[in-house]
Amino acid sequence: MNDATTTTPGRFAGTTVVVTGAGAGIGRATTERLVAEGCRVVASDVVPKRLDALAAALDSDRLVTVAGDLADRPVIDRIVSAADGPVDGLANVAGIMDGFLPTAELDDDVWDRILAVNLTAVMRLTRAVLPSMITAGKGSIVNVSSEAGLRGSAAGTAYTTSKHAVNGFTVSTAFFYAPAGVRCNAVAPGAVATSIEAPFRSQYAGDRLGPYLQTNVPPIATAQQLAAAITWLLSDDSANVTGAILPSDGGWSAI
Ligand SMILES: NC(=O)c1ccc[n+]([C@@H]2O[C@H](COP(=O)([O-])OP(=O)(O)OC[C@H]3O[C@@H](n4cnc5c(N)ncnc54)[C@H](O)[C@@H]3O)[C@@H](O)[C@H]2O)c1
Repeated sequence: MNDATTTTPGRFAGTTVVVTGAGAGIGRATTERLVAEGCRVVASDVVPKRLDALAAALDSDRLVTVAGDLADRPVIDRIVSAADGPVDGLANVAGIMDGFLPTAELDDDVWDRILAVNLTAVMRLTRAVLPSMITAGKGSIVNVSSEAGLRGSAAGTAYTTSKHAVNGFTVSTAFFYAPAGVRCNAVAPGAVATSIEAPFRSQYAGDRLGPYLQTNVPPIATAQQLAAAITWLLSDDSANVTGAILPSDGGWSAI
């Protein structure tokens, strides 16, 4: 047994993996583990100072950073350019919450922003790296979904919709590219201690969700525990796994 921080030296030696949301939380823990395991990582985030702090902490010539908003198309191109060659793995980790807004209280800006970051950016970056993976005949894509992608009682409507869609995107991509040797899976975290902002912006949602969240949510996980699952799916250790939506939630999804 370990606390999910025990690494496998050399597991990713000679590979390049793109990680989004690398400046904090699950994306940062994933980047740290990949670099520790020999990977060259193209780390992207919308907050430049978070990337600067990551680069200072890792002090590795196998870390390349790209600052920018994934909802902006040119940022996708800059990430692919920074890879400067074939991409072996992609971890679509970046995501944002929706204030737990229920359907009747949704405004278009929240809906559009959530879908742009949590779903459309995942599609665009995956689409951008797939050709080199298909040419190489191998590749692993891991999307970070959520408990909210498995049920209706874990977030607001926009976020819940985006994560259910990420699951559909994951299985569709897995189906189409299994013959090409490219795998696509998702990890669905329950509650994780990170810097994600998740204030309730709806009294109604608080009243409706509260009893379920207070009763069902297991102890909060660490970002390192999620990184362990993500890097397992990125690695050849999971070579026979594609199209899986893997809950890492302390058992929440079993309730
Ligand atoms: N923390 C949880 O409890 C939890 C639970 C379920 C799912 N998730 C999912 O895990 C993923 C990571 O979340 P986290 O908890 O580590 O959050 P976090 O806020 O700690 O880290 C996410 C990082 O993504 C970056 N980011 C946000 N929007 C971006 C954009 N438009 N372009 C580029 N970068 C952007 C942020 O700056 C941040 O550094 C998300 O997809 C989230 O939906 C988190």
